[in-house]
Amino acid sequence: KLKLAVLTSGGDSAGMNAAVRTVVKAGIIRGCETWIVREGYEGLVLGNQEHHGPPEPLADIPDNVPARISDDSLINNLRFGDGELLRDGQGDGDFSDEPRSLRNRYIVRVGWDDVRGWMSEGGTLIGTARSAAFRTREGRLAATYNLIKEGIDAIVVCGGDGSLTGADRLRSEWPDLIEELRNEGRITPEQAETYGHLKIVGLVGSIDNDMALTDLTIGAPTALHRICESIDNINSTASSHSRAFVVEVMGRHCGWLALLAGVSAGADFIFIPERPPKAMPWEDEMCEVVRKHREVGKRKTIVIVAEGAIDSELNPIKADYVKDILTERLGLDTRVTTLGHTQRGGRPCAYDRILPTLQGVEAVDALLEANPNTPSYMIGINENKIVRVPLVDAVRKTQEVAKAIEEKNFAKAMSLRDPEFAE
Ligand code: F6P
Repeated sequence: KLKLAVLTSGGDSAGMNAAVRTVVKAGIIRGCETWIVREGYEGLVLGNQEHHGPPEPLADIPDNVPARISDDSLINNLRFGDGELLRDGQGDGDFSDEPRSLRNRYIVRVGWDDVRGWMSEGGTLIGTARSAAFRTREGRLAATYNLIKEGIDAIVVCGGDGSLTGADRLRSEWPDLIEELRNEGRITPEQAETYGHLKIVGLVGSIDNDMALTDLTIGAPTALHRICESIDNINSTASSHSRAFVVEVMGRHCGWLALLAGVSAGADFIFIPERPPKAMPWEDEMCEVVRKHREVGKRKTIVIVAEGAIDSELNPIKADYVKDILTERLGLDTRVTTLGHTQRGGRPCAYDRILPTLQGVEAVDALLEANPNTPSYMIGINENKIVRVPLVDAVRKTQEVAKAIEEKNFAKAMSLRDPEFAE
């Protein structure tokens, strides 16, 4: 019986709960024992600390415990009794000391009812972190030990490119880590044998849509939708006052959200990292475009700036600077709106429920079929088909984009992101 754990890592994205829910349910249907890891890789590193005697008072929680799910949401969302899951209605209704016991437990057995109703929830109910500890070998050694201690054979990681790079790192180091634990006598030779091959699968959860070898990441459609709605709202006030707005959107080093938001909201000008404005100075080009739009009667101007936007010399293009140009050169009454985390939070749109559901089932199947000769997979979507791609390839190709930008090879960066955009 496969013991399967799922975790969410990095920046949260809408649809992560649907992914967790699906992995748990598909795992149960396929006969696996299902677990969640709280707080991303941080939870793997911390593991389940032994607890003797009465629960510690809440004030004794060590300072280094990372941000965690609030006690209320633990009670509401993870229901436990005697260390095992309770099905709805089977408990005695007294969960008073559970949050306390969960404080020392990051790797937790879950069942069907624990993930009921999670499909439409925003964020990630099992918590996430950008774990510094997991970036160290020591942290990964602790994570390996904690997994083996709980008898977990297989993990699903739902996160962005950084998180899946971490998954790939753990995969490649696994034999050495096992060897070290065995030499230290922390695991038995039998355990070293049983857990000699790490079964790991990545689901791409990120609003940025910056992972190679998949068309779409979980959470990107919802974030795009959110941006589009916000610009619709801005449009009415912009038109009323005949104003210009510079809208800064997220995406880290990827321009997907900015580009597609620009298309869906009919923006006048868009700045993205992969294709800096060619004409130098770009200020002239932007003003020319906006002036022409105004001349044909447009009462509003929308300029979208990706947070990672750069010029062709790799200097950041900042929203405030763009605003000053529009104000000074065109005399437009201009405002800056930074959409920030409103883009990331909130309920997933329908597609961010469908995608993680289809991919979650595929992830469980990939783990069940995994053997030492199969690569670790990332589950992607290509031309509307759910696909398995080797995790190592996806990570490598994603890094190539960053490298192409660093080398100012923007055409290459663009075509790596999407061959359709190749110049
Ligand atoms: O990767 C997702 C993302 O929202 C990026 O678009 C953004 O750059 C970053 O995370 C913000 O991170 P934080 O929430 O830690 O400020």
